[in-house]
Amino acid sequence: MTAGAPRRIRTVKVRARGEDYRIVQVQGNLFVCSRAHGSCCCGWEEKGRAPDLDTRWAEEWERRKIRSRLHLTFSGCLGPCAAGNNALLHLLGRAIWLAGLNDAALVPVVYDWAEAMLAEGRVLPPPPALAGHVYERFAPAPAGSFVPLVEPEEDTSDGLERLDPVCLMDVEPATARHRAEYGGRLYLFCAPSCRRQFLADPTAFVETEA
Ligand code: FES
Repeated sequence: MTAGAPRRIRTVKVRARGEDYRIVQVQGNLFVCSRAHGSCCCGWEEKGRAPDLDTRWAEEWERRKIRSRLHLTFSGCLGPCAAGNNALLHLLGRAIWLAGLNDAALVPVVYDWAEAMLAEGRVLPPPPALAGHVYERFAPAPAGSFVPLVEPEEDTSDGLERLDPVCLMDVEPATARHRAEYGGRLYLFCAPSCRRQFLADPTAFVETEA
């Protein structure tokens, strides 16, 4: 990848509370079952699960600056409690279930795998360290059963002028106080901390095309 025009982040129009919003289309979401969010087994040391991994998951996610591609959610019970600690990586349209994540050393391995799939744009086999942790929880969908829920929009990239590229919040252009120019366009930020992060390394938040 070389420097050039900032890549268009895709957004989709969503209507809520009588207003239209532009929501960034991410490539995936990592759901980590967390005791802090009401899980009944994952994260419970007294039930034989590794405790206190939430911080590790969050720090690794922040460090990699993949927010605009892969969202991280700490969830309550995901269902397969006996196999905890559990996580669900929903990536590139595929639900990838991970069980027995009871070693902090597996956290970067999961992210490395996710980033490799993001870079290639396709689902890849799990790395050896995760081979025994990955399984299919969902029954496969019948061939040809995919039904688009809405008509695709012709251009899903407008509205980006309102988007804080760091936290992905919608920012009102008329009143935005925190701004910066990069790659020939203006970016708005919800707070000075987002602007600082952006200016420290813009390419971490606005990818460029060759
Ligand atoms: S408590 Fe984690 S899957 Fe149920």
